[in-house]
Parts: sequence; structure tokens; C-alpha cells
Amino acid sequence: MSAATAQRRETQPPHLDAQQTELHPALNHAHVRFINLGKTYDGQVVPALQGIDLAIQRGEVFGIIGRSGAGKSSLIRTINRLEQPSSGRVLIDQVDIGDFDEDHLVALRRRIGMIFQHFNLMSAKTVWQNVELPLKVAGVPKEQREKKVRELLELVGLQDKHKAYPAQLSGGQKQRVGIARSLVHDPQILLCDEATSALDPETTQSILGLLREINKRLRLTIVLITHEMAVIREICDRVVVLEHGHVVEQGPVWEVFGNPQHDVSKTLLAPLQHGLPEELQSRLQANPTSKDAAVVLRLQLTGTAEDEPDLAALFSALGGRVRLLQGGVERIQGHALGQLLLAVSGSSLTAEELRTRAGRWAQQVEVLGYVV
Ligand SMILES: Nc1ncnc2c1ncn2[C@@H]1O[C@H](COP(=O)(O)OP(=O)(O)O)[C@@H](O)[C@H]1O
Ligand SMILES: [Mg+2]
Repeated sequence: MSAATAQRRETQPPHLDAQQTELHPALNHAHVRFINLGKTYDGQVVPALQGIDLAIQRGEVFGIIGRSGAGKSSLIRTINRLEQPSSGRVLIDQVDIGDFDEDHLVALRRRIGMIFQHFNLMSAKTVWQNVELPLKVAGVPKEQREKKVRELLELVGLQDKHKAYPAQLSGGQKQRVGIARSLVHDPQILLCDEATSALDPETTQSILGLLREINKRLRLTIVLITHEMAVIREICDRVVVLEHGHVVEQGPVWEVFGNPQHDVSKTLLAPLQHGLPEELQSRLQANPTSKDAAVVLRLQLTGTAEDEPDLAALFSALGGRVRLLQGGVERIQGHALGQLLLAVSGSSLTAEELRTRAGRWAQQVEVLGYVV
């Protein structure tokens, strides 16, 4: 990644306004800050985390991606000290949590909710009892407990299910219980480790909707690990890519997804990119074999332009006959991202000229080859 790109990616999440930015320089006032963080598990030689420097801003939804074993869970678990770092520091609201004693840790963990892939509910307790339990443990009086549980079950849409046991619930409902339980102490941060990974796509959407609502309504900072890139695209403001315990890339989601720099990011994001249709791939030739051969162009929209391309203008600039082979454009955080595969035949322009022309409407253009 170039220095300019790295610089660009240190910018504030979009929903923090200019005035706030001026009053609170991003790094000093980060909600969660990792400083040169390292973690090596007992008995291990290879560090699980190394030299992690990251700032998570208050109120943002921050995604962590990386291959299995990259260190995602280790990193998120240092935020509530479920894992003790081997070196470096974790600051929450500018406070170093490294030397917290047991009492401080209990208080810290109440300020930080956590939800899990397999929900971690008590099977012998009802929905109501599952949500109430941490309040009981904390010694909250009955009346207050009841008010809180009622409020939260309403928030997650489970008021009718309060007497049900986990076994009687769907996966999505179980995760709603998990979310309600994570919110009993009015936390300021919510950690989600693969929280939607056991759910079907439709249920995932509804849980993401709920998380977004919580993020907006309760002004909660959400730190989220997932192997599902669509989840990041759907809900996160910024994303970091981990590999072998290092940060290899970070930035606003639209930017990392639109133009991934690191090989790991490219690999992780590949399923979201439209590949060439197999049928076309097999017909594609490196050189034109006849004068009727069409030039195949791939136009990438990386989200840096103001708008989606004006296709009429694009097609007429290319001249000849332009066919759309495949394509799609979507908006992430207001930025148009996507790809168009075009076959241009009968144009008076060379392939290189076509590529240059198309560059007015797309940020990256490649000549993939020729088809007859
Ligand atoms: N409790 C542990 N003891 C020893 N090694 C661990 C432990 N937890 C994780 N690791 C190792 O640390 C590395 C990072 O693991 P983890 O943070 O779970 O990665 P991820 O969540 O990205 O899959 C892996 O090599 C894993 O085997
Ligand atoms: Mg993990």
C-alpha cells in the first residue's frame, strides 16, 4: 500500500462531523486504541498478534477480517481482557486497561458486551432468565431487573418468547437473546465474534438490521469479526485485514472493498467480485484472430468517482457495437462500486485507445482479450 493510500485510510468514519473531529483528534480520542500490541500464547513460538496499532472510533462499526488463525479472536478478546496481551497496550477511553485489578476488570466487562457464534445460552433457563442472569449476578434489585429485561426483550423483538427455552428457539431468536443479554449493563462497546456465522442469509440480514439499530439508537461502538464479506459490506464503517497477527490493510469499507491493496484482502474479497463467466473465459483469446473480433474490456468502478457511469456516453465514445457481457454496480457507504464487462466490435479505435477512452468512466480498465 502506498503512503498516500495509508494516509487516506486514517480518515474519520463518515458519521463523525467536522466539528467533532476538530475538537477530538482521531487517535487521541479513540474509543479503543491498540498500541504496539503483541500476544504470544504460552507454549507457542509464533506470536498470534504482533505490532498491532489501531484506533476504533466511538460509535463506529468496525470490522475485522482475515483468514482462519490470523488472530482476529485474539485481538477482539484483548478489548475485554479475556486475553491478556504479552506486550503493548490497550486503551479504552484513553485508559490503559493493562493493569486493571479484578474489580476493575468486572466493571470493564460490564461496559463491554459480547455475542458469540454459538450464542452461549443456558439451556435449562428460559429466555427471560438468560437475560436476567447477569443482572442477578451483579446484585441488581428485582424491580430494576424486571424493567431492564422487559425493555431489552422488546428491543430485540422477543417479548412473546420470554417463557421459552433456548431449544424451542430458532438460531436467529437465540442470537437475539444473546444480544439482549449482552446489553443488560448498558455497555458502550459490543464485541461480535462470528455472531451471524451460524445463521442462514435471511436471519443474518435481520440480525444485522438489529445490530445497526442498536449502533444508531444506543450509540454503541461495535467491533465485529466475520468471515462473511457481505456482512462487512452491509454494516461496517471501517475494516481491518489481519494476516499472521499483523495488520496488512485498513480503511473505510468502500475503499478497501473497491480497491483492495494486499493479496490477502484480494483473496478474501474475490467471492464478491464478478469473475468471468466460464463460457466467455473459454472463448477468450489473447490476440485478435479476425477483423471481426470484439475487444473485451473490464471496467472497474472503485468508488472514487462521483457517480455511476453514463452508459450512453460511454458506449458512444467507444464507437462500434458495444455489448454488455456481465456487470453490476452497487453502492457502499454512498460510493458506486462494481464491474462492467464489455465486448466492443467494429470500432475504429485500437484496444489501447478503447481502454484509454473507457478510463473516463471507470477508475480501472483492462483489456482482457478478444472474442469472435
Ligand atoms: N488458547 C490458545 N492457546 C494457544 N494458541 C492459541 C490459543 N488461541 C489461539 N491460538 C493460536 O493463535 C493464532 C490466532 O488464533 P485466533 O485469534 O483464534 O485466530 P482467528 O480468530 O483469526 O481464527 C492461531 O495460530 C491459533 O492457533
Ligand atoms: Mg476466531
